[in-house]
This record gives sequence, structure tokens and C-alpha cells, in this order.
Amino acid sequence: MSGELKKEQVLAIIKNKGNAKEKLLSILLAIQEASGWNYVDKEWAKLVATELEIPLTKVYDVLTFYAMFSTEPRGKYVIEICKSAPCHVAKADSAVQMFTEELGIKMGETTANNLFTLQYTSCFGACDLAPVVKIGEKVYGHLTREKVAEIIKTYREGSRCLK
Ligand code: FES
Repeated sequence: MSGELKKEQVLAIIKNKGNAKEKLLSILLAIQEASGWNYVDKEWAKLVATELEIPLTKVYDVLTFYAMFSTEPRGKYVIEICKSAPCHVAKADSAVQMFTEELGIKMGETTANNLFTLQYTSCFGACDLAPVVKIGEKVYGHLTREKVAEIIKTYREGSRCLK
């Protein structure tokens, strides 16, 4: 999968960001965005550590601390379903069921067209809207089957418009 982004491209990103330790977060974000699969490959993480002359563990500290990062390939849109207690009480399970049925994938999987990934997340402060999901910075609450279908349709169409 690391073949999606070439070593020279990763090096160019690092150089472009300034090759400094303080740039670690923005370098990793840029690599993730350029990956085409919304993730930071382990090989690229090693390369970043070497180029910035920092321990690999420091790179992984950042990759694991921030929920926006993944070291596994993901879809363009990551649908995060809250599974913390308040949402759970408000039927987060039904949100899971609606999205898995609508997309035809299980939690943790990515659709064949590389557009959607379903994953769990913990509370992101929108408990009053439960059951709730987050896609990027957008939050969708009080989910119903109709709303879920509409959300998916909107992202599918939006994706087509961008091409
Ligand atoms: Fe789900 Fe807070 S418990 S957003």
C-alpha cells in the first residue's frame, strides 16, 4: 500500500513543511492527505523519524494520540460512530446498524470504492444529539434511517462533483 505514495513525494512533503521537529503534526497531516487512502503508512512514519532526526516512538505518539490519524488505509470519508455511554443509551447500536446496512460493510471496514470507512469513536461532546456520528468536522445527530440514507447520498454526490 505504501506504493500509493512514493518515497520522493514523502520527502518533498517533509522538505516543503520545513524539516523541523515542530512541524511533525503538519507533516503527518500532509502525508495522510496525500496518501489517497487517508492514512500514514508505517514506512512513511519511519522516513519522517529519520528525516526529522527524532525517535520513531515520538512519531507514533502523535499518530496514536490524535484520533484523526490512522496507520491503516481508510476511505475518503471516515464515519465515526460514538459509542460512549450517553450515546449508547440513546441507541448507538441502531446507528451502527443503519450505517452498516446502508453501506454494506461492517464496523472497521472500508467500502470497495474507497469512499467510506466506519469506525467507533468516544464522546466528542454532542451527547444531546445522540445517537450521533461525525464525518470530518461535521456532526450529524438524532439519526433516523432516512437521515442516514440522506447523509450517505450527499457524500456520494459530493464526491462525484469533486471529480
Ligand atoms: Fe456520544 Fe457524547 S456520548 S457524543
